[in-house]
Amino acid sequence: MVLDGESLAHPLLTNQMKQLATPLFGSVDRSLRRWLRRRLNGYAIEYDRLESWPAVVPRGWTGPAATARFEVGITGGDHLEGIQRNCEWAPVVRDTVNALERTGLAQAQVLDYGCGSGLYREILKKNADTSAWTYVGADVNPAIVDACRRRDTETRYELVIEDLPLPFPDATFDVVFASGVIQNVAHPEALLAEFRRITRDWVLLSRLPVRKFSAPAIYLQTVWHKWGQEQHPIHVFRRNELEAMILRHGLEIECRDHGVECFTVPCELEPVPHVSYLLRTRQDDR
Ligand SMILES: C[S@@+](CC[C@H](N)C(=O)[O-])C[C@H]1O[C@@H](n2cnc3c(N)ncnc32)[C@H](O)[C@@H]1O
Repeated sequence: MVLDGESLAHPLLTNQMKQLATPLFGSVDRSLRRWLRRRLNGYAIEYDRLESWPAVVPRGWTGPAATARFEVGITGGDHLEGIQRNCEWAPVVRDTVNALERTGLAQAQVLDYGCGSGLYREILKKNADTSAWTYVGADVNPAIVDACRRRDTETRYELVIEDLPLPFPDATFDVVFASGVIQNVAHPEALLAEFRRITRDWVLLSRLPVRKFSAPAIYLQTVWHKWGQEQHPIHVFRRNELEAMILRHGLEIECRDHGVECFTVPCELEPVPHVSYLLRTRQDDR
């Protein structure tokens, strides 16, 4: 049993207490885990190593549990990751917004790829430096794309299909960002190539699991929360290979920053921190 850094998201728990609670939480049985999860208003995550990317994941990103928890976010309820709890931005949001602000753009066409509940539309509107940006959301889950469209009829939300070209002409956006997304797709390199095609200038990849030393690997992430269970295969990247891939696609690394999240996998020595990459098209391509 492994917990993400934010899983025990309760205001009374300090970070140190959460770290202490993690092994304890992992050793208790399922019903107690469920009780704790409810009491702590959090969620629990387990990681199992896979040999290869699975063909089908029945409780994946388009399954009922993921849909239910994003729909709650769309209708203004509590967000799973505590993103706007107590009207404050969670640290994961601050990571992403700070990186977007580094572009220095006062006006921009921005694509939020893997937008989930479309939360960043509101966040960018409320944030002084990005309030004039024009937001477009895209996601692979038809139910949440529909829900986003119903709630916010003035904004464009696109349904995308994994492994198909993105439904945008070349150089449509000033900024394409994907927060916690490219590790979830079978072919991240093909997706990055598409990001490069549709951006005029910037790409932000935030909340990416990247290790420095261990070989790239695939894990099945199982998440329990109050709306049910979700499973997602994820890539965990090795830094030098990920960065070589970025350069191969005509992008330069403007900034690499450690995110606030981190997880560990049982019996593996190297922890998995989340990292953000702010990328820019090569100067001679701009
Ligand atoms: C971890 S959530 C992140 C949501 C949001 N970006 C955030 O940071 O809170 C991953 C999101 O990516 C979406 N997703 C997964 N695979 C995708 C794909 N191939 N194309 C587009 N979106 C995808 C999921 O439906 C989900 O909304």
